[in-house]
Amino acid sequence: MYPIKRNRRLRTNEAIRSLVRETIISPNDFLVPLFVVEGKGIKEEIASMPNYYRYSLDLLQAEVKELWKLGLKSVLLFVKVPDNLKDNKGTEAINPDGLMQRAIKTVKNACPDMLVMTDVALDPYSVYGHDGIIEDGKVINDDSVDVLTEMSLSHAEAGADFLAPSDMMDGRILSIREALEDEGYTDTGIMSYSAKYASAFYGPFRDALDSAPVDALDIPKDKKTYQMDYANRFEALRETEMDIDEGADIVMVKPGLCYLDIVREIKNEVDVPVAVYQVSGEYSMLKAAAEKGWLDHDAVMMEQITAIKRAGADIIASYFAKDVVKLIS
Ligand code: PBG
Repeated sequence: MYPIKRNRRLRTNEAIRSLVRETIISPNDFLVPLFVVEGKGIKEEIASMPNYYRYSLDLLQAEVKELWKLGLKSVLLFVKVPDNLKDNKGTEAINPDGLMQRAIKTVKNACPDMLVMTDVALDPYSVYGHDGIIEDGKVINDDSVDVLTEMSLSHAEAGADFLAPSDMMDGRILSIREALEDEGYTDTGIMSYSAKYASAFYGPFRDALDSAPVDALDIPKDKKTYQMDYANRFEALRETEMDIDEGADIVMVKPGLCYLDIVREIKNEVDVPVAVYQVSGEYSMLKAAAEKGWLDHDAVMMEQITAIKRAGADIIASYFAKDVVKLIS
């Protein structure tokens, strides 16, 4: 008798489909990236990221309260630093009164239980738009790690719950972990951008923060000496295992969609939570296609987010977080 097994039985209607569905999206899955600027009353749309905004501190409060009401309980903060405060060494990054330090306090005041994570890298503070310090035309490692460690302590002191080093310098996780322990920040966690690729998908983010590498003589024009080559797979495992050995509590793969093979592989190998960053370019591509009427925004958004979780993401950093939660609630 043919066929004994008909796979379509489990797809007959929405009730049975939802009963056997393997991957369910909830507000608990998300980490919400937020862009912060100096000033008052500012909520400005990022040109290359439709419906995504930079907030001044006063309006940031309202935004985090709204996120909390939607069930979004974790944010990842980024700051746009005024040009006159940028230098080569990230001096402003360790200013206890800097925009990031004030942003952390603002979120905690508005919403004390909100989990606050902060980006740790020099690019928004760098005149050259690089994640570390430049010397003789190169991004130097160890001195950059020293500043990133100071920066991390400064965020911890301001009240950050988790630090998210996105710089890809060698040895920074160990250095940050040791400094946190020495200074008594034993509960402050580290979410390491451990497998972060040199990707063209970061373009809109660099518009948002005005943080792209500058085009000048003796300045590397891309980040390929520290971010990973997208052709590589084993390297992602090595990077991730090293970061866990150095003390990372959570590891991350970035970007998302093009790297789901890496996500699955890492998820199979490690026993710490795995985060995936669906980056700015992924967001902007869908917004643009939807504006043109070429793709169904909500349907493609849900398909992509579900694919990221199905691949093994325990945490999804996404500019779609609010859109998704509104859609599914
Ligand atoms: C800073 C940083 C970047 C992103 C997150 N942290 C940019 C970069 O590395 O050039 C990209 C996020 C996005 O594109 O959404 N180091």
